[in-house]
Amino acid sequence: MTNKPLEILANCSASRSDQIVAALQTVRELHSSREWFVFEYVKCKDESVRVSVYSPTQEWIGDFKLEPFPGINNVIVSTQVVIEEKQRGKGWGRLLNRLRVRAMSLAGYSRMLATVRNDNLGEEHILETNGWKRLTTFDSNLNASGEVSLWERIL
Ligand SMILES: CC(C)(COP(=O)(O)OP(=O)(O)OC[C@H]1O[C@@H](n2cnc3c(N)ncnc32)[C@H](O)[C@@H]1OP(=O)(O)O)[C@@H](O)C(=O)NCCC(=O)NCCS
Repeated sequence: MTNKPLEILANCSASRSDQIVAALQTVRELHSSREWFVFEYVKCKDESVRVSVYSPTQEWIGDFKLEPFPGINNVIVSTQVVIEEKQRGKGWGRLLNRLRVRAMSLAGYSRMLATVRNDNLGEEHILETNGWKRLTTFDSNLNASGEVSLWERIL
């Protein structure tokens, strides 16, 4: 198997999702220490891009999604970040966070937003040590999961 990412087009071809994929691919190729990981992209109708990360032997490492903020051209939301349980604690969460930041800066976005549950100390630690700022904290009533914070990264 090569390192070429699989690209799946989910019902549409949207220019913003194309830019997101191109920037992610550029940054992945520039990355020297784990150049062997593979991205699989799903471009969605709403111009968001879902990314799955695999080892060359097709082991799933994790997922994340990047969604352009509705109605604003230069803001992007990072969401649905997950690292496969067996792969946690190996630096993947931090690496992929840095990679998203670099790629979305390259794609021309000026800020990235994310929400994180306040009891998610691992993710909070990654954000705090990668230039993110907590904007506000509020109660998440949708799923009764307690307090969440809105975080911002200036790109
Ligand atoms: C949160 C998550 C993405 C982190 O991914 P990961 O690959 O395990 O993280 P990393 O190995 O890159 O780094 C974790 C960092 O957090 C630190 N950390 C882990 N648990 C911690 C805790 N309870 N308190 C403080 N720091 C913690 C680690 O020490 C490490 O810091 P370091 O790089 O300074 O040594 C992963 O645990 C996950 O997928 N969780 C379930 C889904 C989730 O919570 N997604 C985020 C939703 S916003």
